[in-house]
Amino acid sequence: MAPADAVSRGTPRSADLQVRGFQASPLLIPGQVLGRPTLFADSIAVAGTALLLGVAAMSYAHQDPATASAPRVIEVVVKRFAFEPARIEVTEGERVRLMVKSADGPHGIAIKKFKVSQALKRGDQPVSIEFTAAAAGEFPILCSEYCGEGHDDMKGMLVVTVKER
Ligand code: CUA
Repeated sequence: MAPADAVSRGTPRSADLQVRGFQASPLLIPGQVLGRPTLFADSIAVAGTALLLGVAAMSYAHQDPATASAPRVIEVVVKRFAFEPARIEVTEGERVRLMVKSADGPHGIAIKKFKVSQALKRGDQPVSIEFTAAAAGEFPILCSEYCGEGHDDMKGMLVVTVKER
């Protein structure tokens, strides 16, 4: 297979691009093929390198502990004047994604310990709130927007259980 084939043969699969791209440039330099194809081969080599780097970056991201496991998704409905469920249990260190929706008017949800504070509009789509339950304990869930007479009665509890070691 002549290296120039790699260039002229339409769009090879990315694996081919990497292999041929890297081989092509040194082979072409002393050969009859001048200028343009060499540049093409070089650019393919560059593309191959970029591709490799991209793949490396992606797999690195996958190994990042923060993104290694999918978050625990918990649906929460907020209404006058309660959270449902009122008690949410997770495990220490767990990544948590709350999908929070108001069933009536405006409310808010706040968990001070984990810097959660989110206003919720009437009839909204669920709002996604992510945090890491980095500490064990019991943490109040409060409504962060005044929503009427029962506003102060809106209390939930986030229970973070100690991780077994
Ligand atoms: Cu609900 Cu304030």
